[in-house]
Amino acid sequence: MNKEKIIIGSDHAGYELKEKIKLYIVELGYDVEDIGTYSKESCDYPVIAKEAAGLIMKGKAQRAVLICGTGVGMCITANKSKGIRAVVCSDTTTAKFSRLHNNSNVLCLGQRITGEYLAKDICKIWLETEFEAQRHQYRLNLIEN
Ligand code: RB5
Repeated sequence: MNKEKIIIGSDHAGYELKEKIKLYIVELGYDVEDIGTYSKESCDYPVIAKEAAGLIMKGKAQRAVLICGTGVGMCITANKSKGIRAVVCSDTTTAKFSRLHNNSNVLCLGQRITGEYLAKDICKIWLETEFEAQRHQYRLNLIEN
C-alpha cells in the first residue's frame, strides 16, 4: 500500500520541534516532505504556510504539519487558502475532533507552547483519526460555499 505523504514545515521558532516530529511521522509509517525552514535562522512563517497550502491545493499531498512559536501564525495563514482547514492544537482531544468533525488537513503546533512528547501524541492522534463525514460533510460544504 502506498504511504501517505505528509508535508512538514516550520519557521525558526518551530525548527527544533519540526526536526523531532519529522522523524516521528516517519516512524509512524508515513512519507514526509520537509519544506523548511532548515536552520534556526530567523525567517517568515507565512512563506512556509503558503507553500504548504499551495501543495495541498495542487493535490501534491493531502495533509501538512506546520510548526511555529505558537502555531497561531501558521494557522491563520494556512486558513486563508480555500480548501484548507487548519487547526492549532495543544491537546489531543482537539486534535481528534478536528479530524472526526472538521476533516482538518493542516495541524499547527507551537514549539513554545507544547512539549515534545505531547506534540508527538497530538500528531499521532491527528494522523490516525479518520473524518466521520455524514452530517459533518454538509457543514464543511457550508464553510466553502
Ligand atoms: C516568531 O517569533 C513567532 O512570532 C512565530 O513563530 C509564531 O509564533 C507566530 O505566530
